[in-house]
Parts: sequence; C-alpha cells; structure tokens
Amino acid sequence: MTSITKAKNLSGKVVLVRVDFNVPIKKKKVLDDTRLVASLPTIQYLMEKGAKVVLMTHIGRPDGKIVASLKVDPVVERLSELLKKKVKKLETKNLKLSDAQKLSLLKDIEKLRPGQVAMMENVRFSKDEEKDTGTLSQELAALADLFVLEGFAVAHRASASVSGIPKYIKGYAGLLLTKEIQGLMKVLSSPKTPFVAVLGGAKIETKIPVMKNLVEKADAVLIGGGIVNTYLLAKGYKIGDSLADKAFQVDAITYCKRKNVIKPLDVVVGTKDGKKVRVVKIKKTPHDVCKKGEGIFDVGPETLRLYATHIKNAKTLVWNGAMGYFEQKPYDVGTLTVARLVASRSKGQAFGVIGGGETLQAMDMVGMTDDVDLVSTGGGAMLEFLAGDTLPGIHSLEI
Ligand code: 3PG
Repeated sequence: MTSITKAKNLSGKVVLVRVDFNVPIKKKKVLDDTRLVASLPTIQYLMEKGAKVVLMTHIGRPDGKIVASLKVDPVVERLSELLKKKVKKLETKNLKLSDAQKLSLLKDIEKLRPGQVAMMENVRFSKDEEKDTGTLSQELAALADLFVLEGFAVAHRASASVSGIPKYIKGYAGLLLTKEIQGLMKVLSSPKTPFVAVLGGAKIETKIPVMKNLVEKADAVLIGGGIVNTYLLAKGYKIGDSLADKAFQVDAITYCKRKNVIKPLDVVVGTKDGKKVRVVKIKKTPHDVCKKGEGIFDVGPETLRLYATHIKNAKTLVWNGAMGYFEQKPYDVGTLTVARLVASRSKGQAFGVIGGGETLQAMDMVGMTDDVDLVSTGGGAMLEFLAGDTLPGIHSLEI
C-alpha cells in the first residue's frame, strides 16, 4: 500500500476519501463522534496540502434506498464543528445520477477551493454500492484525481466506494487505515510474548474464525460471553436461557479444548433483569448451571482472578467482546474489570489493542480509552483481520 503522505503535488487535485462515518445518530445529532475524530488527521493533512477533499461514507444499511434518518447531514454538521470550517454537502441524492446531475456534481466539485472539504450523500443510497455492481465505482472514480481509503472499519467490504474505485484511479492508504493495520500487524506477525487475547461478545460466528487463528499465535486466549455458553452447551451442561449458538458447538469444542484457551472457573447466573443473581462453579463433569428462567450473564470472581494473572503478565494484549450482559448491572462486573485490567497493562508493559462496538463502549465506561495503545475503529474489520483474512479494501490498494 502507498501512504497518502507519498502522493505528490496535491494542490488543486480532487481527492476522493472513503471514510467510515457510520456513527450512531439520534434526533439529527451524532451521538458518538469517535470515528470522525479518528479521521481528522487525514482530512487536515489533505487540507494543508491544498487538495479539494471529497468525503464519502455509508451510514447504516439502507439497502439501496433513500432513508431520511440515514442522511449524512448530522455528520456534515459535526465534522464542520470539529474542523472549525464549514464542510460543503454535495447534493448527490441517491448517486444514481442522470447525465445532467452528474454534470452539476462535477461542476460543484470543480468549484471547491483548494483546501476545502465536501461530503457526498450516504453512498449506500445507491443499490450498486454494497456489492460493487453496475458502473458506480467507475463513475465515482471519474469525479476525482486520486482516491484514499481511510476507513479501516469498512475495509472488509468489497463495495464500490471501498475496493471498486482503485481499479480506475490510483488509490492510497489514509493515515487511520495505515495506523490500524500497522498496529494489528504488530500483533499478528511479531507479538512480544506472552501474547494474551481476550475474546467475548455475542456474535459467535464472527469469533470462531478469530479463535481458529489466535489459538495458533497467542500464549493464552481468555474467553467469555457467547463462546463460553456455546462450549458449555456442547459439552452437555444445562445453560437455561443463556445466549449460545447451536450451529457452532463443534467448533467451540474444537478450539476450546486447546491448552492455551482459558475457560471460566465460575459464572454469574440469574434472571435477565439482574434481580436474582448467584455464582455457580463450573465442575469438570457436565451439570445444571442454570435453573428455569435463568441464564449465564457474566464470568465469576474466581475466573476474573485467573484472567487477571494472565493479563498482568502479558506483553501483547488484544481484547474484543464483552464478558457478559454488561448493559445490565450487576452483570457489568466481568467486562468492566477486564477493561480496567487491559488498560492498566497497556501503554508500556504491554502493547494493548481493543476493537468492536461493545468493547469500546465498556472501555469508555471505565474512562480508560486513552490508556490503550490502539483503539481500533473497526469491529467486523478487526475481527476479519485477526482471523487472517484478506480484506478487500486493503487488497485493492496493494495491486
Ligand atoms: C461497522 O460499523 O462495522 C462498519 O461501518 C461496517 O458496517 P457494515 O457492517 O454495515 O458493513
């Protein structure tokens, strides 16, 4: 990949930048601007170089239709505040442009002053975006002199605005994409040992491929959340209403039986509302963990002590996924304890990397986000990278 810092003579050039500003929006306001802030260095770099900066993002999954609540206007407004400069909204409607509209869009872009920033409408309003069908990527490429893939969080999608455009114009890696890949590469190719990974969360199908790859690389993989429940279910424990995925029982057994996969010694079970709660030890022979109406909602205190010894010894740390149903007290204890442990060990004793929506949210809850070395903006993208997959966006910049 060529970094955008290697591109020469950017002054007056139209640079099309694919950011990932897929952020939560409520009542036309951006609720979490982390992804916008993370991309400011690239945008400001291009502004300083005098480029005409045209940003593109998706928001949500509008499935090729125009959805009013998913328009980019709140993002444009927040970005203008962050940049302390008005960002121009380009009226691209659904990007299915008639010749006349295309011409006027080209003219609007042409009219931008060097250093000015503009933003197109949600690219997923076009039905050709997600799977890069039709001529959208070619048409987008025709608007610009060069392309920058900035949003690591969307690099795992083979979409027109991600991997399609660099087929037609030269593509560069943005500063955020570069930073995230370098951090994750450090973990995968030359981790300082002990390398400890903590894996939890609800979407088991996305965690199994990561486990498959990490059990070969990490000294210890500490597990929580849905993976644990699926493993216990597969072994014949009675887990009541716990979240588990029957389809992955065989995989759960295959990977969880590896020596370096560290499993909970005890779990917190109770009712979903957090009212009736107790700690249950996990014995060697399968037994009833939950009674009727109960589920496993967190890892227990003995487990946390065990996990702490691993985390406190780590030189490389990766964390993705909650230990339980941390949105409901008292089931937040496991996840928030892991958050504090990971952050306290990072930036110095260990190189610490975290990623994924819930993980970032938990880290934010303990107020220690700044203590972590790399806070990945990517959820799915980070998992696919850690699983060893080739991400289409990155691949498109390599060829
Ligand atoms: C994300 O939030 O993970 C990225 O923006 C990708 O969104 P998607 O899963 O809808 O493609």
